[in-house]
Amino acid sequence: MKRLGQIAFAMVLLSACSRNTTNTGQDAATAFAKYPASEGKTLFQEKCSRCHKYRMPETRTTEAWVPIMNRMARKAKLNDAQKASVLAFVQEHSKKS
Ligand code: HEC
Repeated sequence: MKRLGQIAFAMVLLSACSRNTTNTGQDAATAFAKYPASEGKTLFQEKCSRCHKYRMPETRTTEAWVPIMNRMARKAKLNDAQKASVLAFVQEHSKKS
């Protein structure tokens, strides 16, 4: 019985980890696999999880991304061209309201 308890505990730990998908390594690669490659996607992956977990494109609407990117481009130190490609990437896959 003790062993069963340990297995159950390990499974709880495992599922807690897998729910926390979008921050690192393999998990992030899986989360991003569904988007076609683009400059904006690459920049997003490189720059947008330094301070917080990724806020994935489909968590915000097309309109909502505009003011957010105005703030975050500055934080992530993107130049105008980089900002435009990240905005295009998130809007392409944004929540359709
Ligand atoms: C230097 C740190 C930093 C970087 C880099 C950064 N962010 Fe943020 N982000 C924050 C902070 C702090 C907040 C919470 C305060 C706020 O909303 O301005 C935030 C909030 C957000 C939110 C929620 C805002 C809302 O109103 O719903 C989104 C979405 C977001 N960031 C996306 C991004 C994207 C996309 C990038 C890459 C271009 C990025 N962040 C890069 C610090 C950062």
